[in-house]
Amino acid sequence: MTLEVVILAAGKGTRMRSELPKVLHPIGGQPMLSHVIDTARELGASKIHVVIGHGAEQVKSQVKAENIHWVVQHEQNGTGHAVTQVLPYLGADSTVLVLYGDVPLVRVETLQHLLANAADLGLLTASPADPSGYGRIIRDAENQITGIVEHKDAAPDQLAINEINTGILVSTAQRLQRWLPRLSANNVQGEYYLTDIVAMAAEDNLPITSAQPRALSEVEGINNRLQQANLERVYQQHMAQELMTAGVSLLDPCRIDVRGKIHTGHDVLIDVNTVFEGEVYLGNGVSIGPNCCIKNSSIGDGSEIKANSILEDTIVEKNCVVGPFARLRPGTHLADAAKIGNFVETKKAIIGAGSKVNHLSYIGDTTVGIGSNIGAGTITCNYDGVNKFQTEIGDAAFIGSNTSLVAPVKIGNHATVAAGSIITGDVSDAELGVGRARQRNISNWQRPLKKDL
Ligand code: UD1
Ligand code: CA
Repeated sequence: MTLEVVILAAGKGTRMRSELPKVLHPIGGQPMLSHVIDTARELGASKIHVVIGHGAEQVKSQVKAENIHWVVQHEQNGTGHAVTQVLPYLGADSTVLVLYGDVPLVRVETLQHLLANAADLGLLTASPADPSGYGRIIRDAENQITGIVEHKDAAPDQLAINEINTGILVSTAQRLQRWLPRLSANNVQGEYYLTDIVAMAAEDNLPITSAQPRALSEVEGINNRLQQANLERVYQQHMAQELMTAGVSLLDPCRIDVRGKIHTGHDVLIDVNTVFEGEVYLGNGVSIGPNCCIKNSSIGDGSEIKANSILEDTIVEKNCVVGPFARLRPGTHLADAAKIGNFVETKKAIIGAGSKVNHLSYIGDTTVGIGSNIGAGTITCNYDGVNKFQTEIGDAAFIGSNTSLVAPVKIGNHATVAAGSIITGDVSDAELGVGRARQRNISNWQRPLKKDL
């Protein structure tokens, strides 16, 4: 069987009240359309046709997906009209599955089930508590499907039916080539309804099969920000379940947000309110404290990230301790057992094994060797307002508190810098660098007195 998937994504999404085309609004940090494309790929689709209209150029450029056949529907004259745009491109012997760019959480297994049962036409149907707004499934006395009637076109007795059309259906290219040109827009909305092919199939005496999703959320569409937020929660629940199944302890599965992919080792512990973005790797025994943001980073075995830390494009190797309140910016690399403490910001900083930057520092465009100690309040002055410069600190160096290292500058192995120094020149191996005014004391100092009023 050759499977082609058609994804409808041309609608405007007026109720989002947004400049952004609806299908670009995110679920789990990815445009909702991207989730549907991923699902089509997992099903093994040989071709994916995406019908776009509103914001077509923006959708094409912002959905980063290869091998998509984009088809522009210039006017949105209905779901039947949308699928008709793809007819010229379908392979003669293909099976065709229709999905929707604003129905992002349908599961691969559900669609496989639909595909397995269907021959000429298969519908994914559901029975929500409140069916209003949806097309209703019409069945005859033998329980065979004979048609779909849209809510707006339905008679009162049809409105009482609670089996609804999710919109997702599968047919063959041959059948669609036969049926779609025969659609008319003779209905309340003046649209070409894809759903009218169901009555045509019944007229042709073809069996119409149906399948149901495991959860209603799989077939829920997003028309406004409330529905988006609801499906975001459903998605996050799934992510939390996957992590726990993989052996991760979540202190509260309702308080984690995964906007990308996490790869985890064993015995990982994640406290509450952490946001993961992009691709994140957490090694064995890693623990993440509350309120962290971790983006495109990798954290090695046994390392601990304490509360309120922010990491982006950072590599933390084994047995490191970071935070609380640390900010590791892109290009930070901590070697084994390095420590970054509270209120420390790093950027393009390579910190050698066992080295410590424990308090209140800015370390940027810097390499630090093995076993060095960077005192509280150390600042690398890496920027002259135009260019950035490099600071190099060797092994076993000791930088006293409240030091400014004016780059470019090198501090040697076993070198020491006195507290409060402004270092503008290199300090060689084993030297002490002192760059501050000498203290003087004035005896019998008279403090100013308060004036009489
Ligand atoms: C459709 C179904 C209805 C079903 C419901 C499920 C039809 C006629 N009705 O109704 O039976 O219960 O979905 O949500 O199919 N689109 C295009 N081009 C168009 C029209 C629509 O790309 O010309 C896209 C929209 O962007 C949207 C989707 O197709 O993502 C559904 O279109 P919409 O008009 O919302 O269909 P419904 O009225 O909800
Ligand atoms: Ca709709």
